[in-house]
Amino acid sequence: MSLTLALSKGRILQDTLPLLATAGIKLLEDPERSRKLIFPTTRDDVRIVIIRATDVPTYVENGAADLGVAGKDVLMEHGADGVYEPLDLCIARCRLMVAGPVDERALQGRLRIATKFVNIARAWYASKGQQVDLIKLYGSMELAPLMGLADRIVDVVDTGKTLTENGLEPKELIATISSRLIINKASMRRQHASIQPLIDQLEAAVAMSGE
Ligand code: ATP
Ligand code: PRP
Repeated sequence: MSLTLALSKGRILQDTLPLLATAGIKLLEDPERSRKLIFPTTRDDVRIVIIRATDVPTYVENGAADLGVAGKDVLMEHGADGVYEPLDLCIARCRLMVAGPVDERALQGRLRIATKFVNIARAWYASKGQQVDLIKLYGSMELAPLMGLADRIVDVVDTGKTLTENGLEPKELIATISSRLIINKASMRRQHASIQPLIDQLEAAVAMSGE
């Protein structure tokens, strides 16, 4: 039996590849330079599929991929009860925050919150007992307050540069974020003999990279 691992292009791919290399898994071709979506690796029993970051939990939950790497933000938004999450890979670290204009006037009435994380934002404001209007966006959330589309945003923040350059500042911390290894539940049972050693190797690689 073979294993299919779902990754997304960009920072997750770049940060996961060195960890996989310690488990003897290397790509034979660079996905960043290819239009292919399925890639063989140096291990005959492991292939990698490249999909959108937000689609990784869906592929793994449904068993279309056995394993995947996804940001905790994406897992929180998707609702990750359907998958195992055995390992924090400690990569793509950032913070999920409420942000708003530096020169914000006193906020009145129902806040308008622009975000691609509508489920997270809904749960956050519900936990504070605050009613808000959620505005679903797919990117460049920082623009919404500048254009009068929203009062505040919920987005990931790393260096804070994107906020600063757009006259925004962090207001509330919702969660600290890193990327996690996720595993399909049926695959974990059926292919335990090949998946468990992989988890162990990745865990050792994460420990080494943190030293
Ligand atoms: P999509 O392409 O599907 O919209 P995305 O743009 O969120 O997804 P990436 O930008 O590759 O995908 O981000 C992948 C993960 O990396 C995010 O889910 C988040 O956990 C983390 N992340 C996002 N932005 C940053 C950042 N600036 N610094 C560090 N980690 C980040
Ligand atoms: C992410 C996020 C923020 C930015 C935060 O965007 O959506 O805009 O990073 O990082 P900073 O605090 O270091 O500025 P990304 O760079 O992934 O671009 P994207 O909009 O294509 O996802």
